[in-house]
Amino acid sequence: MSEHLHIERDDGLLTLRMHRPDKKNALTRAMYAGMAELLDDAARDASVRVVLLTGGEACFTSGNDVADFLQAPPTGLNSEVFQFMRALFDFPKPVVAAVAGPAVGIGTTLLLHCDLVYVSRDAQLKMPFVNLGLCPEYGSSLILPRLLGHARAAELLLLGQGFSGEQAAAWGIANQALDDGAATLGKAREMARRFLQLAPSAVVDSKRLMRAPGRDELRQVIEEEGALFGQRLRSPEAIEALSAFMQRRPADFTRFA
Ligand code: COA
Repeated sequence: MSEHLHIERDDGLLTLRMHRPDKKNALTRAMYAGMAELLDDAARDASVRVVLLTGGEACFTSGNDVADFLQAPPTGLNSEVFQFMRALFDFPKPVVAAVAGPAVGIGTTLLLHCDLVYVSRDAQLKMPFVNLGLCPEYGSSLILPRLLGHARAAELLLLGQGFSGEQAAAWGIANQALDDGAATLGKAREMARRFLQLAPSAVVDSKRLMRAPGRDELRQVIEEEGALFGQRLRSPEAIEALSAFMQRRPADFTRFA
């Protein structure tokens, strides 16, 4: 298991914390693989009733490790990142997220597949895929326009505009915005623990019913996005944008016009 994942078990509550503070919890292949394994094990383990996913009180995650994107981009649906997202997508029990600070790229996308989401008011959510020469991932091109309407989703996905925790709660991406990271984590824990008092199979059956409509269509979109994302990662546009981030300079797309 990656040293950058901290696991805590408390009764039936499993807390999974991304912990790579020097890189703002940027997600490496080892972290994705560890999280996938953990979720798959938790799905089978009857003693786990609910999962809490967090990056702690200061930062959720800055998204995929950019150096990994350049040096070891995902090669297909068997790649670690897809294994993790598939494990989350198929996870039968409730997943609660506690989000403070930056939640970039997959850090925002994955929230669309959690059941309850608590955010700090000043959390910084962002899906800067176009800004990196990439495209939306894991169902967000279907889910977000349906949830927010095309116009608002276009600001987020076609411009890569960031938004706050307060906005995420107002738009229905999150349940509630709280004052700070500690309050967010506290609230998420409190809500996650509520599941421990409920009938486990009733919760699992209810989640399955809620997630079932449109699932085949969503799977198809996820595959299309995944194939395109892989192609785009190898495009000159993406290589320019990702290299620019590593070199701490703005990306220059003028030669692609
Ligand atoms: N991958 C790899 N390294 C990352 C990273 C990422 N996604 N995000 C941050 N880091 C690294 C920085 O390079 C820096 O490393 P260094 O100290 O060795 O130079 C360190 O983490 C701190 O990041 P920094 O940018 O200085 O922190 P900040 O508080 O000013 O900004 C973010 C935080 C998250 C807003 C900013 O780091 C960012 O935009 N990250 C990139 C997000 C991204 O594009 N992710 C991919 C989405 S698909």
